[in-house]
Amino acid sequence: MSAVRENIEAMNVARTTSRLVLSPLTVDDVDDMFRVYGDERTWQHLPAGRHLDRGQTERAIEQAVRSRREHGFGMNAVRLREPVGSLAAGRFIGVAGANMMALGAWNLGYRFEPAAWGHGLAGEAAGSSLEAAVESAPDAPVTARVFANNPVSIRVLERLGLDLAWRGSSGAEPLGGGDTTHLERLVFADRDLDAEILDAVIALG
Ligand SMILES: CC(C)(COP(=O)(O)OP(=O)(O)OC[C@H]1O[C@@H](n2cnc3c(N)ncnc32)[C@H](O)[C@@H]1OP(=O)(O)O)[C@@H](O)C(=O)NCCC(=O)NCCS
Repeated sequence: MSAVRENIEAMNVARTTSRLVLSPLTVDDVDDMFRVYGDERTWQHLPAGRHLDRGQTERAIEQAVRSRREHGFGMNAVRLREPVGSLAAGRFIGVAGANMMALGAWNLGYRFEPAAWGHGLAGEAAGSSLEAAVESAPDAPVTARVFANNPVSIRVLERLGLDLAWRGSSGAEPLGGGDTTHLERLVFADRDLDAEILDAVIALG
């Protein structure tokens, strides 16, 4: 088998943790993902981010597919390998992973349906994602952005061993989406960030 083909196959392999399967997002996940991303309970800290139509979800999947194709990793569909709480094995519970941003750093993220919260699953998925991002592009820092009013997500990042790189509200011109630059936000990273990269991450809002 050629090295290129081997690489492509490695990229598309699902990752497992003790209770989860993380598989590359595909267009087949759009309904499941929209169920989670269209649920206002998953956007309590950023109501404007809620997906109101499937087109938004499709575009998020396209971004994940592009990140994986070009950088070896992206966001994943997360399914249970075993029952957790009231949820059955095989259940799609949400999305976790990291997309490569144009500024040259990974953007780590996760969003699960409320019934899956409180079982340590985000920590499990984020740990596997951090490992995969570093394996795929070791020279690119792994960053994560979170609002100060989201202590659960902050805890997940701290438990992962990421360091706080910045905390504040920048008032910078946002590079995309709604303007959240005035809100108190935190940036975490797996290593020291160059000033240029940190400024660019902060400017994302
Ligand atoms: C963020 C999210 C994925 C976390 O999922 P989860 O599976 O419940 O997270 P985990 O169980 O792995 O970890 C949660 C941690 O927060 C802690 N925690 C729970 N409530 C808390 C609170 N009010 N304050 C501080 N910490 C809290 C838990 O004790 C746990 O820490 P521990 O492992 O040290 O005990 C989930 O809440 C979610 O999908 N939220 C909506 C989307 C979102 O906010 N995404 C992140 C955007 S940056």
